[in-house]
Amino acid sequence: MKIAPSILSADFAALGEAVARVEAGGADQLHVDVMDGRFVPNLTIGPPVIESIRKRTRLPLDVHLMIVEPERYIETFVRAGADMLTVHVEACTHLDRILHQIKEAGARAGVALNPATGPQAIEWVLDDLDLILVMSVNPGFGGQSFIPSSIAKVRQIKSLVGTRPIEISVDGGVKSDTAGPLAKAGATMLVAGSAIFGAQDPGQAVKDLRGASEVLK
Ligand code: DX5
Ligand code: ZN
Repeated sequence: MKIAPSILSADFAALGEAVARVEAGGADQLHVDVMDGRFVPNLTIGPPVIESIRKRTRLPLDVHLMIVEPERYIETFVRAGADMLTVHVEACTHLDRILHQIKEAGARAGVALNPATGPQAIEWVLDDLDLILVMSVNPGFGGQSFIPSSIAKVRQIKSLVGTRPIEISVDGGVKSDTAGPLAKAGATMLVAGSAIFGAQDPGQAVKDLRGASEVLK
């Protein structure tokens, strides 16, 4: 199981230190939440912060774009240092085109699904995907409660994906109690914000979450 700490729950005034702690704890990548106040009712960070993080870590940066018209910013985020760009299917009028735009810009391509969006929305773009991000909360804020039906959705997505080498990632309210069921359903990556940066020792929290995901195996 890969673990991607979401820096949204870190102390932004001590971001470098937060990143170093989860990197030392064995995190596989960093999840960076970009919000525009339109697609979601919150504002977070943009390319300059990603550029600064890029200089401080060797971890791949998995940038979750919760913004409308993401096609306007793809190249900017890749230039800032994003290794993977994940766009919301609900925010893309021309999803197929945007996925190719991401690849051409030199990044890996992901698609996120809101809790109310079914897997059929991505059925015809599967061959262009490196990652599917299953939102297990309504996006916009860290620290919300996990929506239980997300586990069944992960199972459906796993069967849709078949043998394709696509990462199945789950984002929102993920903690030790849901890690095991998610792993069993087919998740290959867990994104966690408050469960990691809300812990006394974020590095240890990365290890604990991975350990919890292995319990039901
Ligand atoms: C929610 C974000 C998540 C969030 C996760 O809109 O996409 O990545 O930071 O935080 P927790 O793990 O606290 O739900
Ligand atoms: Zn996210």
